[in-house]
Amino acid sequence: MTGPRALAEAFTGVFGREPEGVWHAPGRVNLIGEHTDYNDGFVLPFALGLGVSVAAAPRGDGVIEVRSRQAATAVTAPVDGGPVVSEGWPAERAWAAYPVGVARVLRERGTGGASLLIDSDLPQGAGLSSSAALECATALALCDLHGVAVDRPALARLAQRAENEQVGVPCGLMDQAASLLCTAGHALLLDCRSGLSAQVPFAPAGSGMTLLVVDTRAAHALAGGEYGRRRAECEEAAALLGVAALRDVTDLAGALGTLRDPVLRRRVQHVVTENHRVEATVGLLRAGAVTELGAMLNASHLSLRDQFEVSWPEADTAVNAALRAGARGGRMVGGGFGGSVLVLTAADRAERVRDAVAAAYAERGWTPPEFIEAVPSRGARRVTPA
Ligand code: GLA
Repeated sequence: MTGPRALAEAFTGVFGREPEGVWHAPGRVNLIGEHTDYNDGFVLPFALGLGVSVAAAPRGDGVIEVRSRQAATAVTAPVDGGPVVSEGWPAERAWAAYPVGVARVLRERGTGGASLLIDSDLPQGAGLSSSAALECATALALCDLHGVAVDRPALARLAQRAENEQVGVPCGLMDQAASLLCTAGHALLLDCRSGLSAQVPFAPAGSGMTLLVVDTRAAHALAGGEYGRRRAECEEAAALLGVAALRDVTDLAGALGTLRDPVLRRRVQHVVTENHRVEATVGLLRAGAVTELGAMLNASHLSLRDQFEVSWPEADTAVNAALRAGARGGRMVGGGFGGSVLVLTAADRAERVRDAVAAAYAERGWTPPEFIEAVPSRGARRVTPA
């Protein structure tokens, strides 16, 4: 990715005018609390240093024109159109459904047209929320360009709505909230029912630990039916249990005794215990016990693999290889069926852990994994003018 100044210059080259500013929104890694957001539960993500930048200028003709340094196609669309998903866009325009969708949803708050040039250093399909980062950078830019004030929790809900209604992906609130609300050196504890959040100090390096993100190179796509199916199963289980959402299940044994379908029992087991793992993890972080988080990550991974059934072979292999090499813990992150794994290791073992994961891949003849050292970073912001 280029810096903000080079992006602004590229904008001028492409659109023949100067941008009004450059905005940036990060991708995220979820420390713990997976598949809990759409169950009205708790999540604990942190922002990455990588993300999406947007150079932008307003337009008075009600048109949004988007270009990306990572895509060949330029897309022009009216901001007052219906849901993008109903327009049947071809695959090469699919990336632009996110910014156009955001422009269409934000229009009801008073924003209008714009020209946007997008640049990203987040790997796509790695489960690090490149889509949410694109939505959030666009949303911040549009609000500033058109002088519209929306507070960040509300903006996160609007960006989520754009993904649900415009792009047709039934995601929860976590990714957009993480991109907009995270702060450096913290994980974000978010109650997805109330929308209330708290910043929990999280600086692994201070405890001699390193967080490695392993891009397993198995691309994930939320639009595939499995994510929606899990969501529907959770809703069905909640209805059978007579609660508004699985977050409300307080008696796990009682709930498991009530449900007859073994699949629904497994889903409930995951969601209820995962919410408790978020609480336990927050307790450990507040106590400054970062090294103890490994046990939580491992329990989360087993639950996602065996109860929620959303893990994939590369993730299981990466987690197992990392643990055998002495990592404290590891788990798949994000929606599942592809994407990334998060590994917590003592910093002085990180290289051994990387080598072990790479060797396990090589043994199987898989495309080598990519490693990113994750540092809890700042949330979305206007970059220029400062
Ligand atoms: C994806 C979705 C999120 C969340 C996670 C699973 O990242 O976008 O809303 O449901 O999967 O925790």
